[in-house]
Amino acid sequence: MKPRLPTFVSALPAAAADPAVELTAGLLAPAAVVSPKFLYDRLGSALFVAITELPEYYPTRTEAAILAAHESEIARSVEPWLPPGFALVDLGAGDGAKAARLFRPLKPGRYVAVDISEGFLQPALAALQQRHPDIDMIGVGLDFSRRLALPAGVLQSPALVFYPGSSIGNFGPDEALRLLREAHAMSCGGALLIGADLTKPASQLQDAYDDPLGVTAAFNLNLLRHANQILGSDFNVRDWRHVALWNSAQARVEMHLEARRGLTVRWPGAERAFAAGERIHTENSHKWEAAAFESLLRDAGWRHVQRWTDPAGWFGVFLARA
Ligand code: AVI
Repeated sequence: MKPRLPTFVSALPAAAADPAVELTAGLLAPAAVVSPKFLYDRLGSALFVAITELPEYYPTRTEAAILAAHESEIARSVEPWLPPGFALVDLGAGDGAKAARLFRPLKPGRYVAVDISEGFLQPALAALQQRHPDIDMIGVGLDFSRRLALPAGVLQSPALVFYPGSSIGNFGPDEALRLLREAHAMSCGGALLIGADLTKPASQLQDAYDDPLGVTAAFNLNLLRHANQILGSDFNVRDWRHVALWNSAQARVEMHLEARRGLTVRWPGAERAFAAGERIHTENSHKWEAAAFESLLRDAGWRHVQRWTDPAGWFGVFLARA
């Protein structure tokens, strides 16, 4: 018998023009800024998986422990809200490992893996399909930082939207509200299972985002290689260093790339001079008070919000109905 293969749909812009325009605008801004989505090319996605293995990076394993401890309760809660054989929509699926742990307790009939990095998603989903031949799998290449909407026909009935890993924290509060509203519309009257990282001492966050092995530094610096591929620019990774800092006023960890010396970066049609010590802002990772995150969910239209945390209260898993 032939092995079952997943279906792939690309909803990414056809030409490389869009990301180039966006990158150029950010690099030429007075305070240079690049969206964190540019961290995720094939190598960047693999480096993020490596980050999740670091002892200092607590979110992934803390969330996994919460989900494992409460999987039966979660399954009982969603059962009356979703039809049999419902679709599990995994936002920022990566290698699909987090969602795969939910297959046994939740029994979805369809798995829709959404990710901006198609090059990473496709082989990962093909491998996952071999291990779960009974689940209909669809990979969708999508940049939902712009707008979250699936191609027509992918969802026809109430679905469970799964947005783990505290990736919602990579959006500011207004953008997070927009995304949660779009997820509400997309779920077709279904449900949302989402992880959010909670506020905690700055020293612990510092270690998690600037690990001694330098994996997070490599993840951040790889953005420059990715920019070179998209723009044809001449960033030299060795001229830059990784900076992670806690911004207490905004309740977020910020990642920056800092120029080690004065330099000029050139690419077709543009150039940008950076002074020594000047930075490119590459990521925000917002940390939430649990009650404030519940209010955000309600403001986005979600109801019947349930919450589980780990014993230390580091991380929250929230379940809500559309
Ligand atoms: C994907 N996202 C939730 C991670 C975070 O914690 O903000 C990305 C990351 N950045 C540095 N380390 C991990």
